[in-house]
Amino acid sequence: MRRDAWWLELLPIVVVLLGFSVYATWRAFEGTYYEFGPYLSPFYSPLLKPTWWPFSPAILILGGPLGFRATCYYYRKAYYRAFFLDPPACAVSESRKSYRGETAFPFVLQNFHRFFLYLAVLFLGFLWYDAIRSFRFDGHFGVGVGSLVLTVNVLLLSLYTFSCHSVRHLAGGSVDCFSCSASGRARHGIWRAVTSLTERHMLLAWLSLVAVGLTDLYVRELACGAIRDLRLF
Ligand code: FES
Repeated sequence: MRRDAWWLELLPIVVVLLGFSVYATWRAFEGTYYEFGPYLSPFYSPLLKPTWWPFSPAILILGGPLGFRATCYYYRKAYYRAFFLDPPACAVSESRKSYRGETAFPFVLQNFHRFFLYLAVLFLGFLWYDAIRSFRFDGHFGVGVGSLVLTVNVLLLSLYTFSCHSVRHLAGGSVDCFSCSASGRARHGIWRAVTSLTERHMLLAWLSLVAVGLTDLYVRELACGAIRDLRLF
């Protein structure tokens, strides 16, 4: 019964998610141009190059970040609407009559989101290490545009990760009364801080997605000689 252009909301989701998926898949299989000086592309971090693995090293690690994004509560809403039209928008009905939610395979696997979160935090550790390392040029401190690009990227990824609904549940879930225990006050403070991030989860999801793609592109263009890095310090 909606008469407004509700489908307009779906277009940017389709364009950005599809564009990112195609680019990330191509880059993961490319297997080259992922390092330049102290910069390492986030698609290839941590850099694993075992001798028994003949393919691109990115394929060994991308499952972690990909699983985290694919099972994210916000992205689920976005791609269920944009790609499955299930439902296409608020107050717009889907064509399917039966509804099993996420109780059957493969969607029941979405429940692993909490575990992908733990993996994502581990990946953040590697990315922070890469960002710090990007300030070291031939053993000396320095700042290049790439250092800033890698730092902004990991900052946005950290904000996205810690705005996760599972983090909010870890901070304040399963608690009936914050003031009834000694640690309750501290926990309440953490929960409130995470809540203010969670309220911006959608924005952080898109910003961090675009940032990680552009960061990889920047390192790639440097590595293949298409552009030059500007040293600021
Ligand atoms: Fe989006 Fe956890 S809900 S990352």
